[in-house]
Amino acid sequence: MAHTIVIFGASGDLTSRKLVPALYRMFAKNRLPESSRIVGVSRSQFEHQQWRESLRTSTEKFVGKFFDAETWAAFSENIFYHPGDIKTPADFTSLATFLDSIESDNSAGRVYYLSTMPQLYEEAIQQLGKAGLADDTNGYRRVIIEKPFGTDLATAQALNHSIHGVFREDQIYRIDHYLGKETVQNIFALRFANSIFEPIWNRNYVDHVQITVAEEVEIGRRAGYYDTSGILRDMFQNHLLQLMMITAMEPPARYDSALVRDEKVKVLHSIRKMTGGDFASNTVRGQYDGYLKEEGVPANSPTETFAVLKLYCDNWRWKDVPFFLRSGKGMSCRTTQIVIQFKNVPHMLFGGKTRAPVGNRLVMQVQPAEGIQLHFETKVPDSEMKTRTSTLDFSFNQASGGELPDAYQRLLMDAIQGDASLFARSDEVELAWGIIDPIISAWRSPAAPPLHSYETGLWGPTESTQWMEDQKREWFDVCPVLK
Ligand code: BG6
Repeated sequence: MAHTIVIFGASGDLTSRKLVPALYRMFAKNRLPESSRIVGVSRSQFEHQQWRESLRTSTEKFVGKFFDAETWAAFSENIFYHPGDIKTPADFTSLATFLDSIESDNSAGRVYYLSTMPQLYEEAIQQLGKAGLADDTNGYRRVIIEKPFGTDLATAQALNHSIHGVFREDQIYRIDHYLGKETVQNIFALRFANSIFEPIWNRNYVDHVQITVAEEVEIGRRAGYYDTSGILRDMFQNHLLQLMMITAMEPPARYDSALVRDEKVKVLHSIRKMTGGDFASNTVRGQYDGYLKEEGVPANSPTETFAVLKLYCDNWRWKDVPFFLRSGKGMSCRTTQIVIQFKNVPHMLFGGKTRAPVGNRLVMQVQPAEGIQLHFETKVPDSEMKTRTSTLDFSFNQASGGELPDAYQRLLMDAIQGDASLFARSDEVELAWGIIDPIISAWRSPAAPPLHSYETGLWGPTESTQWMEDQKREWFDVCPVLK
């Protein structure tokens, strides 16, 4: 079916860095129907050709060796630009006329991608509604909304309410780009396409789970956004909780957007609410040295750039198994990994006096060294009965020939095809805020745990290491090697 992707915020960074390169790659792989059109909308004045040329430069830069001039020429014929201001109703009426003029039949589907400043989401949706652009009598109408979806529970609820006045829930695609990562989807495969993991994927065998999203980068020039957001809003409410949901969820009856999301939402329902002293004992907060000197950061900013949360799922599978969620900027390397730490054997026969066994550990490397490692004990060759930890190592990156697609390719394709499994539903977003909001409030109260400063290039504050030792556990602080 013919369709048009309308990108609001077309002159922004996301469009040139991610969206258009992703659409180009899909076109080059013959996954986009030839009748696909892309229309950019923003306040800047461009001619179609001018916009195509600027996108050609950026796409060439971002897709590198995959760029091919002939393919680009064919792809760019269907790229258009329509100047428009989200605050001006007449611009939406003229957009509607323009879209009708380029769509050869009147049954084309449309995906509206809101890649604007979040403050404009509500207005953009209302204007789409008023201009009749949400009416799906003749073809589907879907809207993709970038994060952040609200800044707390109240604003997320208000935004959902306002959007639901124009689009039905099944027309709304809330992006969390972590769900577009191949390795995150591979967790579904690992868990639900194998029979060997699920029987031990529970409180009887798992000691704890660690989910780390470490970033080497600091905040760069994003102080304006970051200082009002902080790590809990920026990373935990969305990416970290998404990783936790997929790790902890029950198998859905089918891989279907309603059923997958129902199971994920049940995990959020089961997360134990922190109360009283929990906010101090089950969390660690940090700020990297030098954060206060970043351009645009207020002198006494209490904004966290590092956090640890200890969460529990009060359900049959996970009761009393801690999930340690950790993320930070300015860490020793970029790595996203989920560690399932299994319990030790009940009684160790070998080498007990010299070293405690590490126990079995399954490490799911989400990025950048995509893969899965299983750590297990083997006998030290030619020794008495001593053991050491060995690793079974699967490289997802090698298996894909080093060409894992960017998350946006998958997510844009799913939105075009109407599969919302990898997008956040309204209840999911609100429940996630319901978990994060009380922690943010507690951290802004007089009873807040101390804000530890930390040197960049390490694994966050030393207090985080000590805190984990107090939990009688150890962080898996390993920078993976890309194979
Ligand atoms: C974004 C956050 O959602 O995710 C950024 O706003 C963060 O602060 C980024 O750097 C991390 O994404 P990725 O895909 O590089 O791990």
